[in-house]
Amino acid sequence: MSPKHSRRCGAPRHLLDPIETASRDEIAALQLQRLRWSLRHAYDNVGHFRAKCDHAGIHPDHLQSLADLAKFPFTTKDDLRQTYPFGMFAVPMDRVVRIHASSGTTGKPTVVGYTGNDISMWADVMARSIRAAGGLPGDRCHISYGYGLFTGGLGAHYGAERLGCTVIPMSGGQTEKQVQLIHDFRPQIIMVTPSYMLAVADEMERQGMGPTDCSLEIGIFGAEPWTDSMRAEIENRVGIDAVDIYGLSEVIGPGVANECIETKDGLHLWEDHFYPEIIDPETGRVLPDGEMGELVFTSLTKEALPIIRYRTRDLTRLLPGTARSFRRMGKITGRSDDMMIIRGVNVFPTQIEELILKDFRLAPHYQLEITRDGHLDSLTVNVEMRPDQPFDDTACAAAGHDLNHHIKALIGISTRVNVVTPGSIERSMGKAKRVIDKRPKG
Ligand code: DLL
Repeated sequence: MSPKHSRRCGAPRHLLDPIETASRDEIAALQLQRLRWSLRHAYDNVGHFRAKCDHAGIHPDHLQSLADLAKFPFTTKDDLRQTYPFGMFAVPMDRVVRIHASSGTTGKPTVVGYTGNDISMWADVMARSIRAAGGLPGDRCHISYGYGLFTGGLGAHYGAERLGCTVIPMSGGQTEKQVQLIHDFRPQIIMVTPSYMLAVADEMERQGMGPTDCSLEIGIFGAEPWTDSMRAEIENRVGIDAVDIYGLSEVIGPGVANECIETKDGLHLWEDHFYPEIIDPETGRVLPDGEMGELVFTSLTKEALPIIRYRTRDLTRLLPGTARSFRRMGKITGRSDDMMIIRGVNVFPTQIEELILKDFRLAPHYQLEITRDGHLDSLTVNVEMRPDQPFDDTACAAAGHDLNHHIKALIGISTRVNVVTPGSIERSMGKAKRVIDKRPKG
């Protein structure tokens, strides 16, 4: 364990919010009390939600226990689209102090709103997240999540300020300048998507900054799926602890759940503000803790956009608490929308990522292409050779052959693998685009 790491492990207890170490009974009592308020608030003030409840013959007064939440209707992205832009807001517009939006792949963006109290609660949960990652008041925090309508930049910014950090609001892009400022300002924390961190790490190497002379100690990475192998890659290259942060705009933004640096065993959910359920995505039935399914959230304290049973499409499972009393969620395997079905086999990009990172010759820069040959879908994996490896036809063919073999043996699908020149796969400034769907539409 590095000295940097041990200094950061286990936030001093007096810095934790008391609820982080409360008993499960205390947490459940608080959740029930807040859930009653949240359901009532949504029912009284959001016509769209009230109509859905009335249609289902359910009323907030019917909630006697946390398990009764399962009787209430789900909310989906479609509900937000139907009521675009502000139809799900539960407060008059003069109480909404901020709007964010997430751009879907098609159609209109999903719009979310915040009251002053919502922004303050968000700063609290983000501060808690940074602290769980090992951040301390007084740290310098370099934020490379995009600022703007995306929730990443401003969410991280307010949280870091709330914790008492010095914030460097860099936003995404200008990779050369990112590294120059990391060199000059000497931040201890970086917050960025894991895929963009790789581009920053490449640039650090180009500028001659190694893991030992880099000031960074902690990276707080999220907004897209990433694997434990990617964690090891980043930790080794940059000499930091890499910790996972999760969130989504509809629920608040980043800061719904975060890993604790001392355990790195999945993300503790900030259950005093966001109530999680796992459901079977096919039937909608609530599954017991430990079983894989789709993550669903109900906000417990949000004013402007109370969200009830929001179907995230993210796949994971709930696990008991370890470093905190709150339950954990496993690392997200992927979104149900990102699942590829290749000749009958379900595949997530993260499964391919694991195998790429196991091969010392291959770089963690990859993109997947789905095409249709006749009636069948085919997958092509484009992956870069590491810059320190020989690059010629024989070396590429050998590495490609081996990856192809491992994908076939471990995932069970045949793919075409192209090993390409270092630097030739497009770098993302934010969320990486891992899958390009070239199948004919319709
Ligand atoms: O990505 C909020 C965020 C910003 C989270 C910065 C973490 C850090 P959206 O743009 O609404 O919000 O996208 C939310 O991103 O439903 C997941 O599919 C995915 N996602 C977010 N965090 C993770 C993560 C932000 N740690 C969607 N692991 C979510 C895997 C993640 N997927």
